[in-house]
Order: sequence, then structure tokens, then C-alpha cells
Amino acid sequence: MSGNTSEIKGLGTAHPDWYAPGLEHIWLPYAQMKTASPPLAVVGTQGSRIRLADGRELIDGIASWWTACHGYNHPHIRAAVERQLEQMPHVMFGGMVHEPALTLARRLCALMAPADLDRVFFSDSGSVAVEVALKMAVQYWRNRGIRGRNRIVAFTGGYHGDTTGAMAVSDPEGSFHVAFRGLLPEQIIVDLPVDEATTAAFEAALAHRADEVAAIIVEPLVQGASGMRFHNADVLKTLRAIADRYEILLIFDEIFTGFGRTGAMFAFQEAGVVPDILTLSKALTGGTLPLAATIARRNVFEAFWSDDPASALMHGPTFMANPLACAAANASLDLFAREPRIDQVAKIAAALRAGLEPCRKHHGVKDVRVKGAIGAVELEGIADVNALRQRFIAKGVFIRPFGNIVYLTPAFTIGDDDLARLTGAICRVVAEGC
Ligand SMILES: Cc1ncc(COP(=O)(O)O)c(C=O)c1O
Repeated sequence: MSGNTSEIKGLGTAHPDWYAPGLEHIWLPYAQMKTASPPLAVVGTQGSRIRLADGRELIDGIASWWTACHGYNHPHIRAAVERQLEQMPHVMFGGMVHEPALTLARRLCALMAPADLDRVFFSDSGSVAVEVALKMAVQYWRNRGIRGRNRIVAFTGGYHGDTTGAMAVSDPEGSFHVAFRGLLPEQIIVDLPVDEATTAAFEAALAHRADEVAAIIVEPLVQGASGMRFHNADVLKTLRAIADRYEILLIFDEIFTGFGRTGAMFAFQEAGVVPDILTLSKALTGGTLPLAATIARRNVFEAFWSDDPASALMHGPTFMANPLACAAANASLDLFAREPRIDQVAKIAAALRAGLEPCRKHHGVKDVRVKGAIGAVELEGIADVNALRQRFIAKGVFIRPFGNIVYLTPAFTIGDDDLARLTGAICRVVAEGC
């Protein structure tokens, strides 16, 4: 029977009683449901470990899509969420505010120093934070009485999420979004200005269309989901200079890079380049609850400050600024303030370099690169990504290769031995051949 997940290959019987009956009704992300390996039944998480229903424990190499920066189940975040749950799990944010959200907004803006990024709009996922940033940029020009600036400039190799607007500013050739080309608004996608030729091409693309452009959006320093590609501060300085020359807003999507992942608290601070709008999510709540933020500079916010109701930002997710999520985020910021997270990232970077560098000598390895707590091995190709994922699981680690990339983005609190087991597993698998 087609579509019957009990036919998923390898689905054994050693599963809890909720597994097979529920699996019949679930649709998993980025998965060909017919051929994907059966998903792991998870019953618990702790630190950098994932406990499975069959009793196995896996070392987590990617911290739940880069969110769980303090490790799973941190008692300080748990306690904060439990306290908030007692008091008020949720209240709408239209016409009302609450302490966890206002405290969080104030703290986030303080962390943005020296930038005057000082107005926070909360939402509930990274993609939506990007949608809000794009809408802010387009409406900014409209509110200033300048019509026709509706397009966004974005970059090959970029990824900004799976909603329509976010897909339209992601790499059009990326395997995530190819099927939706007809649906997406046309944006201007160019190569990052990494050298003279690409900078000239970038300027040429802008020169005759600048008056159509509302903003440039980029993942600063690391293009994550489309291949863990790194660039440098000079690229971002070029973007800032060109944005200023043509009076275009600059959006940094720090949903992946924010909160220490690249080695600084925020990539824009490492680069010394201030964007006009910045997006955050993922590690914002330490990987515990969905929350995102779009943060605007003062001059952006001022374009919405008016007696005209039509100048207001027309966006408002139902679960905006959910108090539980804001409490978790405040607790996560406490941990950044009192524990040596950025030092831990530097140590992880050194361990990733030492641990992954031996891969370079193996057949089929194109590149090994590390930035902060991101380690990537780029291969010539991966014959069967599903099979590769299973080989890692068989070695007791959870690592999720995609495209031609095998990567690690562990929790910043991971122990040395666990990290060594992760890099060791990658070296062994690469040596055996992918
Ligand atoms: C840079 C960047 N922007 C946006 C997103 C989308 O975030 P979400 O999956 O929470 O919608 C991601 C997710 O990987 C991302 O890496």
C-alpha cells in the first residue's frame, strides 16, 4: 500500500507503542517519506546526549539544528520556563506587553552594542523573522514616500528559510526550493562580492536597478544551510559601502551565526559592520522554545513613527513574544553572561581543527574548514546521504550530512571526549569512503 509508513524500509518492531500508529500520520521535514530511513524514536535529551527509546544514547553533533548552545535540559532555563508556566504561559501581544518580553528586548538591544539596533519585533520562527525584515525594508521606503523599492538583493549560496519571501531570497539553485520557482517573487540574486570581479559584477547588477531595491540580505560570515561556506569581514564592508552609496538597507540574517556560533557573540560585531536590520532565532532560547526577533536600527524604526495608521508595521504573529519562550531566552542570556561560552567556542574551534584536519588526506575530500563552533568537511559528493546518516548513528553519533557536506555544530558545553568521538566518527567514515 503506497504511503503506508509501516512499509518504510527497516522499520523494526522494537519501538514504543506510540511509534508505528503515529508514524502513519506524520509528515517529516525534508524527507522523501517513501525511502527515508525510519526516524529515531527519542525519549530524552541531556547535555550533548540524545536518548533513544531502544536504550541507545547518541552524541549530538548538531545541537538540534544549531539551537541547543548550552546543551539540552539546562536546569537554569528549565527553572525559568517552569516559573513562567506557573504565572502565565501565554497572552497575546496586541495591545498588551509583559515583563519577559520587555526585559528580553532591552537585553537584546544592550547586546547589540556598539550598534543602535534598538527596536525588537518578536516572532516565532527564523523564516518569519526574515519575512518581517523584508516587509520592514519595503515599507521603510514607502513610509518615506519613495515608491518602487520593492526588490531585495540576495546571494547565491544563501539560505533564509522556507516561507515564500524567505525562499525568494535564498539560492534559487539550492535543492530546498527549486520546486517553487513559479510561486516566488523575483528577487535579484548575485554572487557575494568576494574579489574584484564579483564586486564589479555586483555593482553592475545594482547600478541600473538601485531605485528598485529596498534592501540587501546576507548571512554574515557564514552561509550555513546551503553548504557551510565562509566569507570574511571585507565582504560585509563592501556590502555596507555599496548599500550606503545607493542608499539601500542592509539586513544581516544572524539566525545561524548569532549567539556565539562563529566565535563572537554576533557576526556583525566580529566583522565590525553594522546592518540596518538584524534577524535572530535558533539559539535565542538556548534551543528550548520557538522564538525569533527582527531588530531594527533607530532610523528604520523612525520611518514607521507617524500620526498615520497606514505607516504602522502590518505584521503580528498570534504567538508573538510568547512569555514562556521569552523567559527561556532571558535565562539563556543569563548563561551567556555568567558562563564562558565564547571561550568554549574558541576551544571547540581548536578541537574541530585538530580533529577534522586528518580528513583532508582522504580520497574524495575537497575541503576541511572550521569557524568558531562550526566544522565542515566538504566532499566531492555523497552517494547516498540516507545511508551515510545511518552509518553515523551506528557509530553512536547524530550527524546529519546534507548536499556534499558533513558538518558539526555542537553545543558549546560539549565535553572534550564527546567532541573527539564526533570528529573521530567523521574521520573514520570519510576514510571508509562516502
Ligand atoms: C540563516 C537562516 N535564516 C533563516 C532560517 C530559517 O529559520 P527557521 O527554520 O526557524 O524558519 C535558517 C534556518 O536554518 C537559517 O539558517
